[in-house]
Amino acid sequence: YSRVVPGIKRELMVESSNLITFTGLTNSSGYDTFLLDEERGRLLVGAEDHVFSFDLVNLNREHKQIAWPATPSKRDECKWAGKDLGKECSNFIRVLQPYNSTHLYICGTGAFHPICAYLEMGKRAEDNIFRLESSHFENGRGKSPYDPKMLSASIMLDGELYSGTSADFMGRDFAIFRTLGEHHPIRTEQHDSRWLNDPRFVGVNLIPESDNPEDDKIFLFFKENAMDGEHTGKATIARIGQLCKNDLGGHRSLVNKWTTFLKARLTCSVPGLNGIDTHFDELQDVFLMSSKDPKNPVIYAVFTTSSNIFKGSAVCMYNMADIRRVFLGPYAHRDGPTYQWVPFQGRVPYPRPGTCPSKTFGGFDSTKDLPDDVITFARGHPAMFNPVHPIGGRPIVVRTDVDYQFSQLVVDKVEAEDGQYDVMFIGTDLGTVLKVVTIPRESWHDLEEVVLEEMTVFREPTPITAMELSTKQQQLYLGSTLGVSQMPLHRCEVYGKACAECCLARDPYCAWDGTECSHILINAHTDDVDGLGHVEDRSVYGVENSSMFLECSPKSQRALIYWQLQRPNEDRKHEDRMIRTEQGLLIRILTQADSGVYTCHAVEHGFIQPLLRLSLQVIPTQRLGELLPGGPQGGAGGSGGAGSGSGGAGGPAGAGHSTKHKLWYRDFLSLLDHPDL
Ligand SMILES: *[C@@H]1O[C@H](CO)[C@@H](O)[C@H](O)[C@H]1NC(C)=O
Ligand SMILES: *[C@@H]1O[C@H](CO)[C@@H](O)[C@H](O)[C@H]1NC(C)=O
Ligand SMILES: *[C@@H]1O[C@H](CO)[C@@H](O)[C@H](O)[C@H]1NC(C)=O
Repeated sequence: YSRVVPGIKRELMVESSNLITFTGLTNSSGYDTFLLDEERGRLLVGAEDHVFSFDLVNLNREHKQIAWPATPSKRDECKWAGKDLGKECSNFIRVLQPYNSTHLYICGTGAFHPICAYLEMGKRAEDNIFRLESSHFENGRGKSPYDPKMLSASIMLDGELYSGTSADFMGRDFAIFRTLGEHHPIRTEQHDSRWLNDPRFVGVNLIPESDNPEDDKIFLFFKENAMDGEHTGKATIARIGQLCKNDLGGHRSLVNKWTTFLKARLTCSVPGLNGIDTHFDELQDVFLMSSKDPKNPVIYAVFTTSSNIFKGSAVCMYNMADIRRVFLGPYAHRDGPTYQWVPFQGRVPYPRPGTCPSKTFGGFDSTKDLPDDVITFARGHPAMFNPVHPIGGRPIVVRTDVDYQFSQLVVDKVEAEDGQYDVMFIGTDLGTVLKVVTIPRESWHDLEEVVLEEMTVFREPTPITAMELSTKQQQLYLGSTLGVSQMPLHRCEVYGKACAECCLARDPYCAWDGTECSHILINAHTDDVDGLGHVEDRSVYGVENSSMFLECSPKSQRALIYWQLQRPNEDRKHEDRMIRTEQGLLIRILTQADSGVYTCHAVEHGFIQPLLRLSLQVIPTQRLGELLPGGPQGGAGGSGGAGSGSGGAGGPAGAGHSTKHKLWYRDFLSLLDHPDL
């Protein structure tokens, strides 16, 4: 599991011509509030006393900057209040969000006196406008924190700003606010540690719940102190919180407070040798990887350990189905002689707290119409009892025994010739970036982590505090206290001048094109004449408890067959039921868990080529009666039920002649170790 394959290319990127760095101003720091504006081709960066507009193509090509310091009187007040004039009494920009088609909304700490303004950008890039509307400033309370050390997160949706932040000078009043727009501002219950307990916000996103916008939910990612009586043995707990976008607060109680707020614990841990799990609880960053279905993005989260002794980092992946299941599960309830949080067993009032008022789930038009018992229940039960576990039950990347920790993450979906990969770019607290891809070895429970590159992007070791990825520009942008850097997502040329090196690198962005290692553009050669990339897709059906033969034999006698399995409900115990033969894969005694996608690859001369992709669906015996009028025994029970005539390898895909495909080196070696295959 997660063996670390050392990076092929470990490079001091600062020495490389591929890296472009904007070295920060001497009178500024904290280049960590990013807004990627692909349409205008700009990267907006909020820093100490300044906001910048950079050209996405080249950061150093005529960047624009606006100085927006705190006023001298606010700086004086800040100093008199005992704050550090040099470090804290500046205007640290914390909110930078699109407001309308011409303006951005921008807020800063304003020397412990949060302040907001509108930033004019013009409609189009050609307008070339970058101007702070200095005639109109707004109070930034509940939008930006007072203290620049406080972590906050915000998102602008339809002219309303959702912010998780601290809202007072002392840093004791934390809340999730909605401000701006036509509605009265709304927030979480004040001074109730059950709702929020010293939270540090990491991210906030909108995720639709159904096709009806009335069901839209806001999800917040944060860490906080464990609730009183929450005996997880952990001081810090990572959380996901939810709110309905159309929540207007209660009518008689919870007036101008969220009535749909719920939170759940996010776990990310590795089972230890001695039964003691290693928990990663310090949530550092979250990245939502969009999928075809906007309701179901995949959530990537970066964690570190809270222990001072044991330094470690991990990346865990979560899916929305698991998150929704937890929010529909038991509420945490504090009761009884032990005064511990237990699952609530009683009657949950209707409509279920946390449900958005909408036509989809019926019944009520506004949270102001909610019955009193719903509001009372919601106020006392903001937490869910069950935690959200990551996909596969464990991290996809783990780092321990290294002198750095992960701090930021972005993920790119890459269409490579042999399938789709999620490539992670992980920023560290030492100013380096790891480019990592995880490859399912046999299944999603058995991932191999491959570090493709490890790059140093800042001249001095400094934590990477912001990251954005532009798919349009194929560039990565990084922020730290020292400045902003830019690097390409791929540098295929570094993999050398030979096919072997290029192909062995396993970088999904790169392929050998016959003469050099270059960036592949899948769309550009979908009509490839030599028949590559034509993987045949087939659906096959098997009957529970019977046997199934997935036939796939390469045309070339010398090619070996390698099967890649993607099954959502992995059950490794039964893998001995699978027998690999020269002609295909035999699965004995099918179970429901065997349903999934089986891709057959041919390996020859060090190249791997997908031949056939079979979607296997296992039909339960009980349902067979419905499907086969001849009775439930129709095709079941027997062995060798030929998989719907999966005759031979995908037609045109004659294996072995390609020089374009990458070798999955480890797999290849393991195949060679098993000559019986
Ligand atoms: C910081 O220095 C830059 C020039 O390097 C200047 O344009 C800017 O106004 C200064 N900012 C403040 C807040 O004084
Ligand atoms: C955008 O908002 C700003 C600030 O309220 C306003 O001045 C401007 O007219 C608005 N632009 C459009 C196109 O509505
Ligand atoms: C499958 O076989 C097992 C063991 O032979 C049996 O216990 C089980 O009931 C069977 N399932 C079905 C659906 O026939």
